[in-house]
Amino acid sequence: MNTPLRLSQEPVSPTIEAAAAHAEDISNAFRDLQIVLPPETIVRRDEPLARRTTLRVGGPADLFIEPSSDNALASALEIAHLRSIPLFLLGRGSNLLVRDGGIRGMVLSLAHPHFSRIELKGQRITAGAGARLKSIAHEARRAGLGGVEFFEGIPGCLGGALRMNAGAMGAWTFDTVEELRCMSPSGQILTLPAQEVPVEYRACPLLRTHIALGAVFRGRPDDAEVIRAKMEQFSKKRWTSQPNQPSAGCTFKNPQPTLPAGRLLDELGLKGARVGDAMVSDVHANFFVNLGQARASDILELIEQVRTRARELRGIELETEVEIVGEDA
Ligand code: EPU
Repeated sequence: MNTPLRLSQEPVSPTIEAAAAHAEDISNAFRDLQIVLPPETIVRRDEPLARRTTLRVGGPADLFIEPSSDNALASALEIAHLRSIPLFLLGRGSNLLVRDGGIRGMVLSLAHPHFSRIELKGQRITAGAGARLKSIAHEARRAGLGGVEFFEGIPGCLGGALRMNAGAMGAWTFDTVEELRCMSPSGQILTLPAQEVPVEYRACPLLRTHIALGAVFRGRPDDAEVIRAKMEQFSKKRWTSQPNQPSAGCTFKNPQPTLPAGRLLDELGLKGARVGDAMVSDVHANFFVNLGQARASDILELIEQVRTRARELRGIELETEVEIVGEDA
């Protein structure tokens, strides 16, 4: 079994027969899940996803599961496999654009407290995939451990940060990871030393098929005051250089190390460009904000317009950094 955890970025248009067969698979899986999973596990149908993303757009998930244990997660994976249901792992939805038709398949969220623990022992910080990055940064600071200060202002959870090797303020998630704990598509738990896990700019390819359960970080002992000052400095930089309206963070990957996408779009005069309530932020041009009533289709249209401008005016092919999933309405 090797079900990818990421849905294709391209929406699919199923035939009527395929759509009917899918609806039946979903109904059967929903029934199986209710029988097999413990009562503490949340199992829902047609769960709206807009409120589970920071951009606040997108349609519902056919199935939404919040497992309460490793076993419950493994059982959900097994049912998805048996019923051939596509899987998608949702973090805090802070780097995600769900299309207006929502997600055809099973959306898994590790938001249950079982997956959100943070433990400190010596220089080691052990955190679950559902732990908030901000909480990890603050727990480490309290214990006088540096190295994860940059987590302070990232609005995501650890699982998402591991999957995309999230970075900010010149640091990357995997810089301080010592050990990764993950679940294979067949429900097997693996504990891997970080050296055995290849990572790239904004990606950890293993986590396209495996689910991150958590990680051990090796913190650097430091003066708690020094760590606090560093976090404050990061936070200040963020508040002055990034918008606070709903967004999914940076829309595009930086096309070159010396050419940040934000600067490029700014130079192209795109700040303030709008499609409906989707707008290129006038604070940081690589953030596309939702002014209130934007739909996913507005954001997608704005992304296309901006890519076209970058291509036509500078010959640069911009690649999205935000993860785009689901079906059109
Ligand atoms: N800039 C402009 N105009 C703008 C935006 C930026 O001229 O509208 C200039 C800035 O003045 C600066 C340069 O572009 O000289 C780079 O900007 P910034 O320091 O904000 O960094 P970035 O490369 O745009 C990256 C990450 C962010 C992360 C920041 C802070 C990517 C795609 N983005 O942004 O990550 O928060 O560094 O460290 O690598 C995200 O992943 O969602 C994200 C926001």
